[in-house]
Amino acid sequence: MSEKIKVVFVCLGNICRSPAAEGAFKNLVEKKGLSDLFEIDSAGTADYHVGETPHETTTKVARERGIILKHLCRQFQYADFLKFDYIIAMDNSNYKNILSLARDDAQRKKVMKFRRFDANVKGEPDVPDPYYDGIAGFEHVQDIVERSSVGFLNWILENHHITMQDIEENEE
Ligand code: 4NP
Repeated sequence: MSEKIKVVFVCLGNICRSPAAEGAFKNLVEKKGLSDLFEIDSAGTADYHVGETPHETTTKVARERGIILKHLCRQFQYADFLKFDYIIAMDNSNYKNILSLARDDAQRKKVMKFRRFDANVKGEPDVPDPYYDGIAGFEHVQDIVERSSVGFLNWILENHHITMQDIEENEE
């Protein structure tokens, strides 16, 4: 594949939900042998935690699912609209904050809420912020981001008219 499909997951702090989403989606594409097809990142709309590693409970819950998080927190910026094909917001507030930086319809079209790809729910509910929760809140988020990643990957492959046969042929 020449041009990679570039995806950035975005939450508020970029230490809980969006690094969990980045890790879950990366893990899924690796398991499917599709890593070369993607560039995957995450960012926060706020700058509170720039340079920090993900929240220790996010890291622990991901590790228990076999996912190692390596991201360092960074703030979402206008340039991300120029680089990424898909900008995936965790909640409605992130969604609005991202859209407020967009300058045209093509940029606005890149922005979507992650749970539109969650097969267990109707509509596009928020990925709930676990920051003030105990471990159960973080595990709930991990379940959501893993499930939404499956729906998102299937949607992308369909949207780009990529079949598993194309991928196998590309590997040969
Ligand atoms: P996140 O969670 O947006 O999922 O990374 C939060 C992390 C930090 C803060 C809020 C939410 N904070 O206020 O510092």
